[in-house]
Amino acid sequence: MQYYIVKGGNKLEGEVFSSGSKNASLPILAASILNEGKTYLKNVPNIHDTEIMYQIMELLGVKIYQEEEYIVIDSTNIYTYEIPDNLMRQMRSSVILAGAIIGRCKKAKFSYPGGCDIGVRPIDLHLSAFKKMGINILEEDGVITCDAEKIIGNTITLDFPSVGATENIILAATLSEGTTYIKNAAMEPEIVDLQNFINKMGGNVVGAGTKEIKISGVNNLETARYEIMPDRIEIGTLLCATAITKGNVTVKNVMIEHLIPLIYKLEEIGCEIELKDKRIHLKVKDRLNACNIKTMPYPGFPTDMQPIIASVLGISKGTSIIIENIFENRFKYLAELKRMGAKVTIEGKTAIIKGIRKYNATSVEATDLRGGAALLIAGLNASGTTEISNIKYILRGYENIDEKLNTLGANINIREGE
Ligand code: EPZ
Repeated sequence: MQYYIVKGGNKLEGEVFSSGSKNASLPILAASILNEGKTYLKNVPNIHDTEIMYQIMELLGVKIYQEEEYIVIDSTNIYTYEIPDNLMRQMRSSVILAGAIIGRCKKAKFSYPGGCDIGVRPIDLHLSAFKKMGINILEEDGVITCDAEKIIGNTITLDFPSVGATENIILAATLSEGTTYIKNAAMEPEIVDLQNFINKMGGNVVGAGTKEIKISGVNNLETARYEIMPDRIEIGTLLCATAITKGNVTVKNVMIEHLIPLIYKLEEIGCEIELKDKRIHLKVKDRLNACNIKTMPYPGFPTDMQPIIASVLGISKGTSIIIENIFENRFKYLAELKRMGAKVTIEGKTAIIKGIRKYNATSVEATDLRGGAALLIAGLNASGTTEISNIKYILRGYENIDEKLNTLGANINIREGE
């Protein structure tokens, strides 16, 4: 097991670049197998989740290699349509490959993606959409087998604006016959990135970023070069790390329009923020104030930022109320934050946080990706040494986050241990 050893108490100062978006890279990597040829991707983050994606794609027959600043995906040959169970279990979001494999092979076989640390994570919306597109679904002993003579465009209204379901429908519809309309679609920026990439390969998707998306099936795609959008959640994490240390930092390579709800909240609690071109400058002079948070589908406050801003609110003046509307089990990290002194009570999907002056340095355990990041930034605030175990969760979704924070003045080391 690996641990972060965090010597806290330093202000973060300076400039840092964000990496490419994990949550845009995964569906775009999946989309690349729709093209029977090569695609060139830039700014794919080097994290555990993209590593797993590469492993699955190579097992399908895809060749993946680096060429200068590009990751080259050669999906000329696909030899199988089955996602191996062990890799499915390692990364539940590999279900995003299903739509692409079905789109390419008209068949797919994969096991039910396990629930994970933040909730059951069902895929009923994905499967009911596939059925409406003429895809036969067989569910037996936890294995899902899909096959279709041909995939037919249809109108699909999502009960909930699910990001993954919206992406999987786009992937399955890109090479289909006819036109597919998604109503009540998720509007996250990562879906706009997926649309832009598919269209660059010669696909025909319009409306991503709105509640209605139209996908007109095409016969085939062609090679394309594409740069992945910046990771808005990593950027939000760097901003919150700055806020929790009363620092003064500029984050570069930012698409500001992706961060509006977070920026408003950080300003509401007293952060001084300057927005210029593709950079955000944040500094904090006095003790921050409390605020209330309600997580919502985009463009509301992102659920992925809930644990991270909760760490900041844990040392802000006053009482904050957080309502988690997206996932049913996304407060697990709070038990660990309480070990660091946080004053928290949980009532169903509501967490009530009474701000303390400073966290206590102690040993804590990461419970999931964003919960782990919440503990990491709390360790930056605590005076003394905080040891965080199970950091494999954090390494899944953040590229060199320790190095980035250390360039800003943090003192984080990785320790190997049992
Ligand atoms: C994506 O997960 C992200 N993951 C999540 O980021 C993010 O939190 C989430 O969208 C919401 O923004 C990736 O993009 C890889 P959903 P996804 O389908 O697609 C329910 C991170 O930390 N639902 O929008 O799984 C579901 O249970 C991760 O980077 C169904 O009921 O999210 C949940 O309550 C965590 N049936 C809600 O919808 C379905 O068929 C939102 O899920 C699908 C989803």
